[in-house]
Amino acid sequence: HKHLLGIEGLAPSDILDLLDKAEEEVLVSRQVEKKKNVLRGRTQINLFFEASTRTQSSFEIAGKRLGADVMNMSVASSSVKKGETLIDTAQTLNAMRPDILVVRHHAAGAVHLLARKVSCSVINAGDGAHEHPTQALLDALTIRRHKGDIRGLVVAICGDVLHSRVARSNILLLNALGAEVRVVGPSTLMPKGIDRLGVTVHKTMREGLRDADIVMMLRLQRERMNGSFVPSVREYFRYWGLDQEKLGYAKPDALVMHPGPMNRGVEIDPEVADGPQSLIAEQVEMGVAVRMAVLEALAEHLPNA
Ligand code: CP
Repeated sequence: HKHLLGIEGLAPSDILDLLDKAEEEVLVSRQVEKKKNVLRGRTQINLFFEASTRTQSSFEIAGKRLGADVMNMSVASSSVKKGETLIDTAQTLNAMRPDILVVRHHAAGAVHLLARKVSCSVINAGDGAHEHPTQALLDALTIRRHKGDIRGLVVAICGDVLHSRVARSNILLLNALGAEVRVVGPSTLMPKGIDRLGVTVHKTMREGLRDADIVMMLRLQRERMNGSFVPSVREYFRYWGLDQEKLGYAKPDALVMHPGPMNRGVEIDPEVADGPQSLIAEQVEMGVAVRMAVLEALAEHLPNA
């Protein structure tokens, strides 16, 4: 593959190869000397049109650990503010001959469009409510390190599924690896036809979390709810927020995940987020390893590799 635009289009063997490679990168990242030189001489540009803490910083660290020259494009102070379009911005950067462009954009499909207009490799770091493939890969790596095989695990993805690219990429990946995937949340925050992606839809946490191995919470994305239904925080937490009581519906050894950024006290109780069943900090560590694996895999297909 020249690009990583989504989990859609990856074969289960592609996913497993990336997870295996990421396991090696975990070891590299835990050494005192963390540098490899597989991307030495290569240029990586991170182009983020939406805010990010985890994804942008981990792509920067990942690129640097592999020896690339990494440039973070500051969109806020760029000519995007003067009206330059996504495509013109990307083609301008492409003319500087980067090897890899990592892109986050608020419009679903924008990264696919951009990939057709530039000559370098493109990685989707989140496009609207569509896909966030490296998040799904880092979630799978985290799950696999604790539970072994993903096949047969019951994974409950809970909350604002409607606005979540994380949910969509996770559904595609976890189904491809043979998990049983459930989505749980209010019907107003559930995309129409979501069951066609091979999930079961649950309207209460009690039902959706029953015997779950993994409880994956999603951020309530109020910034994407312009004009539509915006639930009150207190009501939302009461019915959909993960607290110890609701976590008790899942298996006793269930593990809790959240892609971040978290709204503490909205979709998750701080006691659970910081509790012994939480994998949230480990997800962040796996984020660097997975992004190193993806960059390294793409590097094998760069010209003159
Ligand atoms: N999980 C995630 O994508 O976080 P950021 O928005 O901080 O990158």
